[in-house]
Amino acid sequence: MLFPEGVAIDGRRGSVEPSTDKYIKRLSDLRGLFRDEAALDRAIAKGDAIAYEVIDYRKSESDLAFGTTIMMPGKVGDEYFMTRGHFHARRECGEAYYTQSGEGLLLLQSRQGEVRTVEMRPGVCAFIPPDWAHRSINTGSGKLVFVWFCATDASHDYGAIREKGMRRLVVERNGKPALVDNPNFA
Ligand SMILES: [Fe+2]
Repeated sequence: MLFPEGVAIDGRRGSVEPSTDKYIKRLSDLRGLFRDEAALDRAIAKGDAIAYEVIDYRKSESDLAFGTTIMMPGKVGDEYFMTRGHFHARRECGEAYYTQSGEGLLLLQSRQGEVRTVEMRPGVCAFIPPDWAHRSINTGSGKLVFVWFCATDASHDYGAIREKGMRRLVVERNGKPALVDNPNFA
């Protein structure tokens, strides 16, 4: 039987107490995502920095799960650090991303290939409709921390984005984030 509890989330550090699971993605886990592969190789050789960390509060007997994603600042070539991006395997499941600190862009793409962005900054809770792929991008100079809420069994489908990429890229142009077409989009 499950019992209620309060979970302490630190909006600056992204810590979740208590948590049930966590994982870390380093740049070497993100091969194939960035356009400039030589820049990625150099960054990996220089120490293979952590790109982001995900901390879960997830109980399999409950329909609702939540947790944090903590994204480090950085770029590979002119592309900002990003998450892999995914659809949900259960297509009827949406999600919410509530930004706590930092700044970024949430890049979304429908099954039909329509692209939208939602600004990520403290106080903005992004609504992710069902069946839109989503990728978050840290465009700031500090950590980007957000809390996510999702169906426990929504399940990630990374395949489509891994194989085709997303239609648009977020790159730095004159010191600012800019959305450009992805020349490699299949
Ligand atoms: Fe998701």
